This record gives sequence, structure tokens and C-alpha cells, in this order.
Amino acid sequence: MKTIGVIGAGQMGAGIAQVAAQAGYRVLVSDVDLARAEAGKAGIAKRLARAVEKEQIGADDADLALGRIAPQGDYAAFGDADLIVEAATEREAVKRAIFAEAGKVLAPHAILATNTSSIPITRLAQASPDPARFMGVHFFNPVPVMKPIELIRGLATSDATVAAVEAFAQSLGKTVVHANDAPGFIVNRVLIPMLNEAIFALGEGVATIRDIDAAVSLGLNHPMGPLTLADFIGLDTCLEIARVLHEGTGDPKFRPAPLLVKYVEAGWLGRKTKRGFYDYSGAEPVPTR
Ligand code: 3HC
Repeated sequence: MKTIGVIGAGQMGAGIAQVAAQAGYRVLVSDVDLARAEAGKAGIAKRLARAVEKEQIGADDADLALGRIAPQGDYAAFGDADLIVEAATEREAVKRAIFAEAGKVLAPHAILATNTSSIPITRLAQASPDPARFMGVHFFNPVPVMKPIELIRGLATSDATVAAVEAFAQSLGKTVVHANDAPGFIVNRVLIPMLNEAIFALGEGVATIRDIDAAVSLGLNHPMGPLTLADFIGLDTCLEIARVLHEGTGDPKFRPAPLLVKYVEAGWLGRKTKRGFYDYSGAEPVPTR
């Protein structure tokens, strides 16, 4: 593989583009328009500059990596890509529309992969031009820091597709884990019920936002408390995954916490909207309840 296409220049897409460029791939990045794709690249430039300041990478390497990233306003150039990774909003209809469009230019040998957090791969594959060359490649946020990549094959994914994407994931220096095409795969099957439960606890008045976060992060030695982490991931994404778990298993234990639904309905989506369980408009996050 030489050229990677990344669809979506938000926190996940930009992270994927960054690690691929640092590993030496030429990277095409698109979003709903060229301006968003360019904003994604500008964010990568800032993160690379910080890594240079901290003397984690050399200035030349940072320049080379940045030079490999080409923002795109449409999919025309994606015909050159050996692998296209979709990292758009966690909504099935959005992803299906992207696969239909990007599928028109997908090269005959190329693979289309999705960074979905939880939508079934076999179902999504139906919207791709060739389900044998389609699979899940699930990165974690922040992508440059987090080690694992979950690889998920759909019913029709070929062995050659899995082998090629596994080789790509390893070339990024990541640890590959394989998951079956079950709701939430591995990490989100375990993580989202924990975050959702913390939100139930908050809604039921068990403790304050600060105390829930302090108790869990210190008590379980997690780097972030669950409400901080939910804000970090995005409350809309947490809710979408909770719904996939609930609908996909039919098990009421996965039902989304009413307070999570309310926050999303209010447009309080976490860090990205500057308000979630914390208010991020000042110097320090302030609990909203
Ligand atoms: N992009 C790139 N690098 C970042 C970053 C970002 N957005 N945020 C932090 N970092 C880097 C910093 O540069 C720093 O690197 P260094 O140690 O090499 O200098 C390192 O991460 C630590 O950062 P900080 O010192 O600023 O802050 P913390 O020590 O508080 O760490 C954190 C920040 C790495 C985000 C840490 O709090 C953490 O690991 N939190 C948990 C993250 C987590 O659970 N992610 C998984 C979410 S689930 C998911 O993604 C699945 C999805 O489907 C929902």
C-alpha cells in the first residue's frame, strides 16, 4: 500500500491521517467540503509542531509527514488509494451514502474500511461495491497515542483483505486485535455500559459529576473519569453506540441513560460543542450539574 484515503477530518479522521502520514503513506483526506478537510490538516500541523517542541520527532520528519497529507474537496483523487478508511459521523445513513459515492472511484484492487465504533460490518458492507474488500478498522481516540486497532471482518470479507489491513495496521506501530462482528465489538461493548452507568448514577443523584469522575478514575486507576471520557468521545457518539448495543442485542441492560439522551437533545455533545457534563468555555472544565 502506498496511498491511503481518509474520509472525515474530525478527531478520528485527522488522527488516522496523521499516523498514516507519519508512517510514510501518502494520505488523501476529505470531509463535507475542502475547507473542513483543510481544517483537519491544520489541526494535524499543530499536533506535529507540539511533538517537535517536545523533541519527540524531528522538524524534518514533521514537515515530511505534513507534506504527505493532501486535503480533498471530493473523491475524484481517491481512485489512487489502495485503502480508503471512512471515519465520518457515527450514523449509518451517512456512512452508506459515503460508501455509495466513494465506491464509484474505488480502484479494482483497493479496500474500503470503516472506523465505525459499533455498526455491524456485514450490514454496512452491503452499501459497498465489493463486500469481500470491506471490513472494520477501529481506532481509538486520541489515535496517535492509543495503541490498539480492532479489526472486524464481515461475513463476506476475504482473507486477503484482512491480511492487507492487518499489515497496514502493524505498519502504524499499533497492536492489532481481532473481534467478531458483534455489537460494539470488544472495547465499546465493555466501555459504553460503564459510561452509561456513570450517567445513570448521576441522573439518580448517587453523586456529583466531580465525585463520580474522581472516584472512578482514582478507584480504578483510569486516566479519565467516565463523564470526562464521555465528553471526550462525544455524547452523540456514546448515545449512538449505546443504541446499537441495545438494538443489536435486544438486551434492556444496554438501554441508554435518559440523562444522556437529554444532553444530546440539548446539543450538549461534550468537548466538541464546549459543553457536555462539563462546560469547557473557560480555562478549566466546570461541571454543569
Ligand atoms: N492527539 C494527539 N496526542 C494527544 C492528544 C490528542 N488529541 N491528547 C493528548 N495527546 C498526547 C499528548 O501529546 C501527550 O503525549 P506525550 O506524553 O508523548 O507528551 C500524551 O497524549 C499525554 O497527554 P497529556 O499529558 O496532555 O494529558 P494526559 O496525561 O491527561 O493524557 C490522554 C491525555 C492520553 C487523552 C489520557 O487522558 C487518556 O488516555 N485518556 C483515556 C482515553 C481513552 O480512553 N480513549 C479511548 C476512548 S474510546 C474510543 O476511542 C472508541 C470510540 O469508538 C468511542
